[in-house]
Amino acid sequence: MSDFSQHFKKNLQSWENRTPVHIESRFYDNEKFKSTKYSLNDIERSILQDVSNKSMLHLQCHFGQDTLSLANLGAIATGVDFSPSAIKAAKELSDEINVPCRFLESNVLELNLDEEFDIVFSSYGAIGWLPDLNKWGEVIAKHLKKGGTFLLVEIHPFVSLFEGQDYFFDKDMNIEKEKGSYTDGGENIDSEFYWWNHSLTEIFVALESNGLKLQSFEEYNYTPYHVKGMVEREPGKYVLKDRKQQNLPYIFSLKATKK
Ligand SMILES: C[S@@+](CC[C@H](N)C(=O)[O-])C[C@H]1O[C@@H](n2cnc3c(N)ncnc32)[C@H](O)[C@@H]1O
Repeated sequence: MSDFSQHFKKNLQSWENRTPVHIESRFYDNEKFKSTKYSLNDIERSILQDVSNKSMLHLQCHFGQDTLSLANLGAIATGVDFSPSAIKAAKELSDEINVPCRFLESNVLELNLDEEFDIVFSSYGAIGWLPDLNKWGEVIAKHLKKGGTFLLVEIHPFVSLFEGQDYFFDKDMNIEKEKGSYTDGGENIDSEFYWWNHSLTEIFVALESNGLKLQSFEEYNYTPYHVKGMVEREPGKYVLKDRKQQNLPYIFSLKATKK
């Protein structure tokens, strides 16, 4: 892998700035989470089915809401993220709601746990932070049991076009600047970060070439998150406010198994 250490450093700083804002945001509604112990959406929930007693590795777990939701459903869950503040907050949340869960700090592309899981899971806004999807596929394969399942629910790469970006990967892409984050709050934080677009082909190739076989792929014409600039078309289904065309792909889900 090329040396992306400066890129990761910049991205990590961006996440260290965002995480405290996210914990306090209405978007993540952590108070509600503490009482429901549940933050998953129907998309991932229906694909995951019964997770009880399954060993699960959650990549890029942020401050742990989804990992803890899985643990609360009976999974033996491990969440990984490179942000020290996110991992610290996740551990505190686990203690506070009394749901045991393991949280580890690591760059996902350097993860090497010497353990194999029944399920590896990652979702919503994860792979754009990764410059090398082949390495990502290798990490997933390495941490899956034979026959184990990888589930990815992600922002559809088509969305980058709405934002005036390219569709295909560009390793030399420029740094992005953002005021605030995708949640409410933190309007004054300046975020500078690198983001890499990954085409669907690139995602499929990364998994296939590391020994994963695609089992299902679905596209959704809404996002379950109320991100800035979106309106609720149906309960719990959000689309961009100012687009003439509303029947566009916002999210995709993918399930693959290790051969
Ligand atoms: C948009 S969040 C994931 C969202 C998650 N589905 C949620 O809502 O909780 C992206 C996460 O990726 C993490 N991240 C970014 N680059 C990473 C890397 N190279 N290794 C590990 N974690 C990374 C960030 O710290 C952040 O917690």
